[in-house]
Amino acid sequence: MLNRVYNKLTREFRNFAVYRERIYTPKKFDRPKNLLEVKTAWNGLELIIGDILEFTGIKTKSCLEFGVEYGLSTSAFSNYFDEVTGVDIFTGDEHTGTYESIYEQVKESLMSFPNVSLIESDYRDFIKEPPQDFYDLIHVDIIHTYEATYDCGLWSARHSDVTLFHDTESFPEVKRSVADIAKATNKKFYNYPKHYGLGIVV
Ligand SMILES: C[S@@+](CC[C@H](N)C(=O)[O-])C[C@H]1O[C@@H](n2cnc3c(N)ncnc32)[C@H](O)[C@@H]1O
Repeated sequence: MLNRVYNKLTREFRNFAVYRERIYTPKKFDRPKNLLEVKTAWNGLELIIGDILEFTGIKTKSCLEFGVEYGLSTSAFSNYFDEVTGVDIFTGDEHTGTYESIYEQVKESLMSFPNVSLIESDYRDFIKEPPQDFYDLIHVDIIHTYEATYDCGLWSARHSDVTLFHDTESFPEVKRSVADIAKATNKKFYNYPKHYGLGIVV
């Protein structure tokens, strides 16, 4: 009996110790040269992309983003990766507000970023038949519910070396799903608490 309680406590402590969030502290801040001038909650995170790439040591061939909106984060990633694919329904959601499709407008604003391709699609349709099976980095910034973040994020963590999640601080449900994804995939969860929070699963 005592043995069983001891084993259970050891298991729970191990889960806590391995999957707890670790605070991410960047060593340097670099402003990417080419950035779209649109104001979004993502502002500030562009300064640590280079640091994350150095920290994780991943390749920089391909980047996939779920949640483009007006394109700030997409434009930031395009400074570091050979190819960036941005997937969005382009009609907003219950957190950003909903609107008529902005796909054409965003495509036009990103014209001067030749390594960016936009796909107007729900992430659920995209992941049924993705154009490639694996990406060096995937950024998830869609509707901030537990279910959508977990579903899109779990697929992303299984199909990339590094998966980033925006809004881990402003949406507790996002942080909870990121912690669960790290646990399900046996990866580490770093959290950068500034600019509404960026989860880094690696
Ligand atoms: C917070 S915004 C993204 C902000 C963007 N990353 C930036 O740099 O400003 C969330 C976006 O997710 C998109 N979205 C919501 N649900 C989606 C889904 N199921 N599939 C694809 N995109 C979705 C919305 O249309 C919206 O543009």
